[in-house]
Amino acid sequence: VQGDDVTERSWLIYGASGYTGTLIAEEAHRQGLRPILAGRSEARVRPVAERLGLDWRIAELREPQSLRRAITDVGAVLHCAGPFVDTSKPMIDACLDAGAHYLDITGEIPVFEDAYAQDAAARQRGIVLMPGVGFDVVPTDCLARHLAELLPDAWSLEIAIAALGQASPGTTKSAARGLLRGGLVRRGGRLESYPVGRGVRKVHFDDKERLVMPIPWGDLASAWRSTRIPNITTYAAMPSATIAGMSRFGWMANAFLPLLRPLIERTPLQGAVDTWIERRIHGPDAQAREIGSAHIWACVTNQRGESRQACLQTLEGYRFTALSAVAATLQVLAGQWSGALAPAQAFGADFVLSIAGSTRRDLPIDAPSPS
Ligand SMILES: NC(=O)c1ccc[n+]([C@@H]2O[C@H](COP(=O)([O-])OP(=O)(O)OC[C@H]3O[C@@H](n4cnc5c(N)ncnc54)[C@H](OP(=O)(O)O)[C@@H]3O)[C@@H](O)[C@H]2O)c1
Repeated sequence: VQGDDVTERSWLIYGASGYTGTLIAEEAHRQGLRPILAGRSEARVRPVAERLGLDWRIAELREPQSLRRAITDVGAVLHCAGPFVDTSKPMIDACLDAGAHYLDITGEIPVFEDAYAQDAAARQRGIVLMPGVGFDVVPTDCLARHLAELLPDAWSLEIAIAALGQASPGTTKSAARGLLRGGLVRRGGRLESYPVGRGVRKVHFDDKERLVMPIPWGDLASAWRSTRIPNITTYAAMPSATIAGMSRFGWMANAFLPLLRPLIERTPLQGAVDTWIERRIHGPDAQAREIGSAHIWACVTNQRGESRQACLQTLEGYRFTALSAVAATLQVLAGQWSGALAPAQAFGADFVLSIAGSTRRDLPIDAPSPS
């Protein structure tokens, strides 16, 4: 730590050679920040670091001593190496050991749940564990918190996301792992399975109406933490043909996913799927990131049937992630928090409005209730 200037504090981006890790490193560099870039492969990390003129380190997640050494002198680790169901545990353990804050860009429910379960350990160590500082879940978490403040006795929360555009390789791998776990909602404070293809409806976003279907976003974990609203459903907008197919054939997914899961999860077949994804999925290019945007709608309702709704528009998801991940890391470095926290729980509902391109609009109180 050099002086009081948070921009001078030392932090490290692990997974800096990936699609999103590189975008975040480039954004930090653009802001004049000097994170240390890290990952498991010198051949992949070093060229990014040399191009940006940043320091770099190599450490394997499966080697606790080398990982501990790599982060021993940093204030925070921004973990970008996913799927995080495979990678978050060793990094959280190393951060607890070294006394470095941990942030990541996951959207994976088990990763949020595991991090939140370490709240007491993080408090004791005086560090923050903050999963989900990218597009998953900063905008949705902030919108959920905003609505919960407008209706403090809300008992149900619905969030729908229309994030148009291509996915990156890591997002596709993480989504494939999530697909195997089937549908989920939160009811009475607990995660419950929910049939794939059920619950399709229309939602009026700030630009237009779209068909949405329940999909288990990370908010099923993070919004429960930041709002304590016990009933949460998260939806994704999809093309009507996709939704029609899922509605018709969802029963097959519900029947076969539990059988397929042990055959694929952490087996050579999963490795083959990952390789297939790496060869074919490259993520949105600079132009797609520049012109893209994302739309979010959310609604809270209390037991008397009163509701509040709001919409949020943001930059394209990967561009947003680069900005929000850097902003969240600087906030944590500058702050006095400890424990396992959702982004809006620490930074407040308006944090999203500090990210360029984000606009929020409350719908009138008498707006038609969602169908
Ligand atoms: N929250 C959000 O909105 C948001 C936005 C973007 C991405 N993400 C998530 O971020 C993750 C990364 O996505 P991406 O598209 O950037 O992926 P990617 O291009 O495939 O890059 C993955 C990175 O993780 C590293 N990695 C993977 N497994 C590792 C392991 N076992 N040990 C060490 N390093 C490992 C890779 O290292 P090598 O180069 O050595 O293979 C690479 O640097 C995904 O889980 C994705 O869902 C979330």
